[in-house]
Amino acid sequence: MLSHAAKILARSRFAIAFTGAGISAESGVPTFRGFNGLWKRYRPEELATPEAFQMNPNLVWEFYRWRMKKILEAKPNPAHYSLAELERLGIIKAVITQNVDDLHREAGTRNLVELHGNIFRVKCTSCDYRENLKEGGRVNEFVESRELPKCPRCGSPLRPDVVWFGETLPKDALEKAFNLAERADVVLVIGTSGVVYPAAYIPYIVKEHGGRVIEVNVERSGITPIADVFLRGKAGEILPKILELVRELR
Ligand code: APR
Ligand code: ZN
Repeated sequence: MLSHAAKILARSRFAIAFTGAGISAESGVPTFRGFNGLWKRYRPEELATPEAFQMNPNLVWEFYRWRMKKILEAKPNPAHYSLAELERLGIIKAVITQNVDDLHREAGTRNLVELHGNIFRVKCTSCDYRENLKEGGRVNEFVESRELPKCPRCGSPLRPDVVWFGETLPKDALEKAFNLAERADVVLVIGTSGVVYPAAYIPYIVKEHGGRVIEVNVERSGITPIADVFLRGKAGEILPKILELVRELR
């Protein structure tokens, strides 16, 4: 199975990767579904919504600061690094991610499409002010604070620049992702439950255009029914093996 997947990748013309929270699980970033140990007594679905933010912005910020902290402690794992290396080898042309954790970028992936935003960016709820806390060197101070963050331009509350349930995805990122999916002859789907749309259309678009779907997951997902190759296991263990086999084949 592994060698079959490696062969498909090595012979591909335009392979892309589509990733979800599972690829960062081994880095210590909690996934969403099958969330192990709830955050206090809330489910992410109850906190990651515009309604929750309107009702209780301090609670939502507490949740996001907690997630930011976890993510700041996390480092890319061998799965992230293997994808970056597959890109350097010219095999993978782009990584489309649903993750907001920045770990693909840290691992060296260049052509990255973030469908659900980035947890280290904040944006104003009223004006078009945006800020990257990591680039601004303000992230640690931000995470430790307990105050409701305010826009330096207009004084309105700031919110995380991530896509919440019920919100539309950033138009440019979604367009780019769909275009890549239409062109791709292979998509490597890693660590996603494949139930959140429109992101989960990506593998379906590849398949409809005649491309092949290789999936890596510890369990079956919403994508598994259309997978040509299903590799059951941990992303951090399987990706380095694929990389090694692809190297040998080239
Ligand atoms: N290796 C591979 N797969 C793994 C691993 C691992 N080490 N650990 C967990 N998984 C798989 C799980 O089996 C599951 O299918 O990763 C998937 C994680 O699923 P979700 O938690 O649902 O994450 P994701 O698919 O990224 O969620 C999509 O939902 O909450 C929203 O916006 C949020 O981007 C997120 C979207
Ligand atoms: Zn503002």
